Amino acid sequence: MANDFFNKVALVTGAASGIGAAIANQLAREGAKVIVADMDAAGAAAVVHTIEQAGGVAAAFEINVADAGEVEAMVAFAEKTYGALHLAVNNAGIGGPSAPTADYSLEGWQKVIDVNLTSVFVCMKYELAAMQRAGGGAIVNMASILGSVGFAGSVAYVAAKHGVLGLTQAAALEYAAHNIRITAVGPGFIDTPLLSKNLDAATLKHIAGLHPIQRLGKSEEVSALTCFLLSDQASFITGSYHLVDGGYVAQ
Ligand code: NAI
Repeated sequence: MANDFFNKVALVTGAASGIGAAIANQLAREGAKVIVADMDAAGAAAVVHTIEQAGGVAAAFEINVADAGEVEAMVAFAEKTYGALHLAVNNAGIGGPSAPTADYSLEGWQKVIDVNLTSVFVCMKYELAAMQRAGGGAIVNMASILGSVGFAGSVAYVAAKHGVLGLTQAAALEYAAHNIRITAVGPGFIDTPLLSKNLDAATLKHIAGLHPIQRLGKSEEVSALTCFLLSDQASFITGSYHLVDGGYVAQ
């Protein structure tokens, strides 16, 4: 059954590329008006163009999610442009440096925590206020398999994604009785520019083999789960963490 997002306004951060772009496209296909938010303005405009070509409704918003003022402005833009905010996917993220903890730079740590963790708190802070004005809503925070297990060389990323699960649970408890559901998604390694830009072919092949399903995931597979969690079909689901990982964490 397709999800029904008609008369809903959705916001997706990191929507110019990879997983976020797939989610923005699916939300629009299923009827939502979508704010395509990203620091890559040209990429966001291209996603909006694709959505409009397919008959959907979307608007681009250029943002650095690590800037609280810009996050507040993004939520205000959604309400001004489409009248309300009902759905949000806090998805923007970076990989950060790769180094063992003793060699991990303080600057690298701070940047990953700002972009991958603090931004999720700040986004929720403004989204939740808007969703209360709209009478309810749903939020999905993009975590990772590395929200529940470790990965050598990525201490800041692993810490940030574990933190996203904590933020998700705490906020879900606060807003469960206010008709706002908040969940987290944990993808395994997904074939997006985040991986292909940073890793060579041999490393990608090795990483694909770490999944019992023996391949990388696809952005559309993460989008399918995320959009289900945003939909009314998931009306009794909140505060929970949902893997889409080819069996990675089951090992
Ligand atoms: P991607 O690199 O294809 O897309 C990320 C998008 O976020 C880009 O368009 C980028 O411009 C944007 N972005 C980065 N920093 C930003 C900032 N400060 N402000 C606004 N936009 C910013 O990456 P991908 O793979 O689609 O990742 C999306 C999310 O999924 C991230 O949170 C990532 O940690 C998570 N994830 C990805 C996995 C993978 O294997 N690709 C696995 C598990 C989680």
